[in-house]
Amino acid sequence: MKHLLSTRDLTPGDAIGILDTAEEMAAVNDREVRKLPALRGRTVVNLFFEDSTRTRISFEAAAKRLSADVINFAAKGSSVSKGESLKDTAQTLEAIGADAVVIRHSAAGAPHRLAVTDWIQAAVVNAGDGTHEHPTQALLDAFTLRRHLARVAGTPSAGADLAGAHVVIVGDILHSRVARSNVWLLTTLGARVTLVAPPTLLPIGVEHWPCAVSYDLDAALDQAPDAVMMLRVQAERMNASYFPSTAEYSRLWGLGDERFDRFDTPAFKDTVILHPGPMVRGLEISSTAADSDRSQVLRQVANGVSVRMAVLYLLMSAKESAR
Ligand code: CP
Repeated sequence: MKHLLSTRDLTPGDAIGILDTAEEMAAVNDREVRKLPALRGRTVVNLFFEDSTRTRISFEAAAKRLSADVINFAAKGSSVSKGESLKDTAQTLEAIGADAVVIRHSAAGAPHRLAVTDWIQAAVVNAGDGTHEHPTQALLDAFTLRRHLARVAGTPSAGADLAGAHVVIVGDILHSRVARSNVWLLTTLGARVTLVAPPTLLPIGVEHWPCAVSYDLDAALDQAPDAVMMLRVQAERMNASYFPSTAEYSRLWGLGDERFDRFDTPAFKDTVILHPGPMVRGLEISSTAADSDRSQVLRQVANGVSVRMAVLYLLMSAKESAR
């Protein structure tokens, strides 16, 4: 694997290989060994043209735990405001010594552009491109779900796929790169996915995706899925006309206190709640649900470091052997 641009590109073997490597990284993290020497002398550049809390910090922590040097670039405050192009920005960072570029950009396809042109030689990791994909988020979601299912079954998670699992993804699917990456990855790993959204927040062509689609959250919950993934309503990408009123959205598509009461029934005894963050509490999820013991939200964040360590290690050690 030279770059990580999309979960759609991953075979089941690729995906399980990343998740298993992440298990090894997690075992190191659990032993509180703060650093591995694997990427000593290598440089990871975080090239962020859009805001981020979790992804940027998690890649930084992951790179540092592998002993890499880290350069954080934020478009705000840079020469991008003077009109500098993506190509010139990336080449400038490579001239400073980037071996891997982790890029978040509002334009779908920006990471592909860096990877398929000969602008730079560094490994490219997509950290979220417009509404297109967010592959490491989906990998950390799959890792979290795989660990949960293994805990419930009393089996090891290493080597396992997600065959037979059912995941309901709820909310603003139209703008969600997380939903897209999850649909490709979860189905590659054998899981069944149901998307639930208001009709105006579903993309054109969704009927051709490898998943079920519904407007009715309660009907989807009747199937007692293994995981319910709530998505943020992406107001910053939205034309107001797409959006029902916040009260209507919350009542029909939110995981509010009343709907969360269903999790107290036996059918839901092993159902977990996922959210990629940031959460808009009171809109797509209530604080009761977000802070409950069903919520995996902080586990997702912690697992993100192990998954990103695995991705950087696999990409950068492949680069090393190709030299
Ligand atoms: N999940 C996620 O991508 O969060 P950030 O926008 O904070 O990175």
